[in-house]
Amino acid sequence: MKNNTPPVCDYTGSDYQTSFWNQADRAYEDAAEAMALKRLLPASGKLMLELGAGAGRNTPRYAGYERVVLVDYSRTQLEQAQAHLGTSGQYIYVAADIYKLPFVDGLFDGATMIRTLHHMADPPLALGQVRRVIQPGGTFILEYASKLNLKAIARYLLRMQKWNPFSLEPIEFAKLNFDFHPKAIREWLKQLGFKIERQLTVSHLRSPLFKRTLPLKLLVAMDAAFSLTGNLWQLTPSVFVRSNVHGEAPSQAPAGFFECPACGSAELQEKPGGLTCHGCGRQWSNTGGIYDFRLTV
Ligand SMILES: C[S@@+](CC[C@H](N)C(=O)[O-])C[C@H]1O[C@@H](n2cnc3c(N)ncnc32)[C@H](O)[C@@H]1O
Repeated sequence: MKNNTPPVCDYTGSDYQTSFWNQADRAYEDAAEAMALKRLLPASGKLMLELGAGAGRNTPRYAGYERVVLVDYSRTQLEQAQAHLGTSGQYIYVAADIYKLPFVDGLFDGATMIRTLHHMADPPLALGQVRRVIQPGGTFILEYASKLNLKAIARYLLRMQKWNPFSLEPIEFAKLNFDFHPKAIREWLKQLGFKIERQLTVSHLRSPLFKRTLPLKLLVAMDAAFSLTGNLWQLTPSVFVRSNVHGEAPSQAPAGFFECPACGSAELQEKPGGLTCHGCGRQWSNTGGIYDFRLTV
């Protein structure tokens, strides 16, 4: 089937979790993100959507939610997530493209997107899909890579870097890897109907020198203190934003759960091995406990 959505940065077969997190010196970044999530997440919720969940590094941090839907384009990432999170009904694994989310409108009362927007060539299109599936009153926590960070500013002023960290357009520093200007992110969120509640800057001390010389606990404590200025300025490589969708939470859950990404019908019948769409007849597989709604595979 033809797909008219932007290209996907495909992690199929990637050992991202092992090589980037487990075997590399990133305990500080991981702990700083955990701290930001702890500060931003509501105490409890019903249904959380984790966008670009990868191998589920952050998923246990959403324990306040009754159920979590992990979405990732890469089936192999979801298999890794499933291997350590298990197959209880608490977690629902969905291979899908963020640009074509296979859920009915207003399904979720919470959503997160961590270290994933930086792969989006069309952020408003991706964020529009997220907005569509969050119910009024729901919470969205977005982490993005900021181009307006101190290192990029210094390099630009010293003429060691050509691109301008102060301009609003994204910078694609490697294929399908983008840094964004904080103001551009805020504008997109506002235009889509999100109300920005709080910003936290994260990874202030992301430098080999600090990581070598300071104990992890001190690094994380300092980061947690500095991050409280996040509403005032954002000069770190990573920024977290918590937004709320305007409106009152609905008294009833929406009818339906999945929506066909090919035709938009919400009439999907669960059968052994997957789902059948009544709108277009398309079959969407569920093998090994992972739903597959990708259009091009
Ligand atoms: C850098 S990893 C981050 C994983 C996880 N959020 C974390 O912080 O550990 C980015 C993830 O986004 C997923 N991804 C990228 N583009 C996507 C798209 N269009 N739709 C769904 N997932 C996508 C990749 O497969 C990958 O698992």
